[in-house]
Parts: sequence; structure tokens; C-alpha cells
Amino acid sequence: MTSTDAPVTSVADLSEHVGERVALRGWVYNRSSKGKLHFVQLRDGSGLVQCVVFKKNVPEELFEAVGHLGQESSLTLIGNVSADERAPGGFELQVDGGEVHHAVDGYPITPKEHGVDYLLSQRHLWLRSKRQWAIMRLRDGVITGLRRFFDEQGFVCIDSPIFTPNACEGTSTLFEVDYFDDKAFLTQSGQLYAEAACMALGKVYTFGPTFRAEKSKTRRHLTEFWMLEPEVAYADLDDVMRLAEDMITYAVRHVLEHRRPELDALERDVSKLEAIEPPFPRITYDEAAEILKESPDSEFVYGDDFGAPDETVLSNRFDKPVMVHRYPAGVKSFYMKRDPEAPDKALCVDVLGTEGVGEIIGGSQREDDLDVLLERIKEHNLPQEFFDWYLDLRRYGTVPHAGFGLGLERFVGWIAGVEHIRECSPFPRMMSRIQP
Ligand code: 4AD
Ligand code: MG
Repeated sequence: MTSTDAPVTSVADLSEHVGERVALRGWVYNRSSKGKLHFVQLRDGSGLVQCVVFKKNVPEELFEAVGHLGQESSLTLIGNVSADERAPGGFELQVDGGEVHHAVDGYPITPKEHGVDYLLSQRHLWLRSKRQWAIMRLRDGVITGLRRFFDEQGFVCIDSPIFTPNACEGTSTLFEVDYFDDKAFLTQSGQLYAEAACMALGKVYTFGPTFRAEKSKTRRHLTEFWMLEPEVAYADLDDVMRLAEDMITYAVRHVLEHRRPELDALERDVSKLEAIEPPFPRITYDEAAEILKESPDSEFVYGDDFGAPDETVLSNRFDKPVMVHRYPAGVKSFYMKRDPEAPDKALCVDVLGTEGVGEIIGGSQREDDLDVLLERIKEHNLPQEFFDWYLDLRRYGTVPHAGFGLGLERFVGWIAGVEHIRECSPFPRMMSRIQP
């Protein structure tokens, strides 16, 4: 790498170096040339800045070389930092030296429109484009905000296993893998392990990759996604609904504060995010069913789970995320506690994001009675021997407890205003795609 007499800095830190001579190391995002001038849009991972290469200010060979650089050529540029309100980002580099590391010709992604299939096949390169850069930085900001929230609230992060012996969220979406002379499944959710851990540590969360063999090709489904799952001992459904509301609000504010340029790059209407504050509307499944009955866009049948179009109708109704609680127990998971006031309903909640995005969180209070839980495992035709350890939690000091799961990519997609969540995963895995 070039050793330079000027200190190396990054585009993100240019405001601290106005009037100073610095070196920037990066890649050509775009270049235009006019006679004795080259304008290089340099990206260095932290941001994008215009660098002005004036023939009379730089060595002859450098001027020549820069004039031939294609997109994504790598180079170091050295020069004076000036503040310029008209420049994108507010700064410019007046170049007086530098070095080309790798001159590139024929980069596969040009500023022209490419189809999304092509871009996905070039995902390893597509990540360098401005929009993808902004989404990845937003995802990072969301993760930091979420972790910070749980840390401040006294939660302990535990990591649940990825190889599991049994299903958590229904047997139809399991990925089976060889496990020596036996078989195992990739985890669908860390919840069962989080339940064990909350009995040891009180308030916990697990955050990691989860897998669903989803045969659906919708904008909301990946086969591998990250899920954050808090679980709290001595908590009921209302407690975790409040937790979800506070967590969402905290993460959204964190991003508004720390990832504003990225939201702007995505042309996100931030007023929609600024409106997010507790309390969020809470409606029962029955109330949601009434709303859908009046909607021409919905083919909803009472007793069923909501389909994606139903969720869109509901989530368009409110300018804050809406919490739909107490679904019919029959459409929900075996571990959910029934509502003592209405035993055909589960003490569960789905949180739907605003602007039509649909479900971002699913959660519930858990069945804490041994005999009832045994019944449910039988009803769902689940192999009881695999749940023996889980039943121990009801044998030894059982208490009311509750939790939920937040799908990270759906949450990021909602905050970013990105239609399809495949853009919210660095290397998305879908039914028809496992490359690159
Ligand atoms: O509603 P789900 O299936 O709930 C559970 O897994 C519970 N065990 C969570 C818990 O209570 N600890 O999934 C939770 C969330 C959904 O709301 C959604 O955001 C996301 O995970 N999700 C998916 N995201 C992307 N692709 C998929 N195929 C997803 N399936 C679920
Ligand atoms: Mg769900």
C-alpha cells in the first residue's frame, strides 16, 4: 500500500480535516473528465466524496492514469479538503497526488438499470452500490440500537443452538441435515432455549440466524433470516407488548439519530418514522376481522390466520405499528397459553409495521402448566421425547413467562422503506437462490 506523507483519513471524517492535506483510499464510483480536469467520485466504504484532479496540480502520469480509470478501480488520492455546500456530502478533495492500485475496465454493474435477478447474481459486487451501502449501514444501526436497548434494560444475551433435534414453529418448514448417523434440523427459532435461559437469568434474548424451508416467493420471506427473541420470566402478554413497543421506538430513534444520511440516501420519508412513539394501537383478532370484513381487498375468512393482503390492509389503517392480539389458538403454535377468558384464543400478539409492510413481530405468553402443555404437544403430533427437557421447565419452578421474535430483515425493510426484504440481507437465501 502507498505510504503517504499526508495522514490517511476516511470520507466520514472529512469534516474534521477542512483546510488540511489528507489521503483517502477507496474506489472509483464514477468519473467524468473535461479537458484538464477529472472529477472522481471516490467511495471508501464510509461515504462518497468528489475529488477534483486538475492537470497542473498532479504528476503527469497520475493525470493520465486517472483519465482512463473505469468504475471500481482502486486508488489513493491525496489533497486538500475543502468545504463546499454545493458538493454532494458537503466536501471536496483538491487532489495533488496519489496512486492507482488497480485499474479496472468493464465492471459488471453500471449506473444503468439492471434487472433484480442479475443484480442478485452479482450480490458480491452489488453491495458496493450506494443504495445497498445505505441499507447495510442501516441494518448495522438497527442491530446496534436493538442490542443497546436490551443491554440498558438489563437483559442477558444468550446464544441458542443452530442444530436442533426438533421443530419449534411447525414441521412443514424444517431444513433437515445429516448429523453423523442421525439427522438434525436447522433452527426455526431460539425460543425454546430462551425459555430455559430466562428461568436461569430472568430476562434474556437470543439473536442469530434462523431457517425456514419456506416455499413462498414473497417479498417478506427468506429461507435464512436473523431473529431477535427476548424472553422474560414472570411476564405476561401485556408486559411483552409494552416491551415490543419500547424496543421498536428505541431502535427507530437510534436510527434517526445515527443513520440519517443513509435514510436520506434511500429517500425515506422520515416523518413516518418520527411519528413512532408509544402507545401503539392494540386491537384484538376479532376487531381486526371486523375491519377486514369491510375491506374490498380482503378475502379473509374468520378463524383463519391473516394473509399478506389482510395484513397490508390492517397496517395501512394506522400511522404507528399495530398490535393484533388473541388469535384463534388453532392457527398458532403449540406452546402458546390460551386466554382464560376465551379458551379458543391464544395469548399471542403479532405486531404489524406501518405503510402496509405487515408482520414484523410474533410473540406470546407461554403455556406454563405441565399437563396442558403435554396435551398440546399431543394435539400437534409432536414427538414428546424431544420435548422432555422443555417440559422440565414446567416441572421445576414453573412461572408465567412470555416473549416474542423480531424478524431483523423485515424490521430493517420497514425502517428503510425497502419493498423486498432480500435487499436487507447481505447475502439473501431464498427458495430459488443460494448463490453467491
Ligand atoms: O412469528 P414467528 O414464526 O414466531 C416465532 O418464531 C416465535 N418462536 C418467536 C418468539 O415468540 N420467540 O416468527 C417471528 C418473526 C416474524 O414476525 C417475522 O418478522 C420473522 O420472524 N420471520 C421471517 N422473516 C423472514 N423470512 C421468513 N421466512 C420469516 N418467518 C418469520
Ligand atoms: Mg408469525
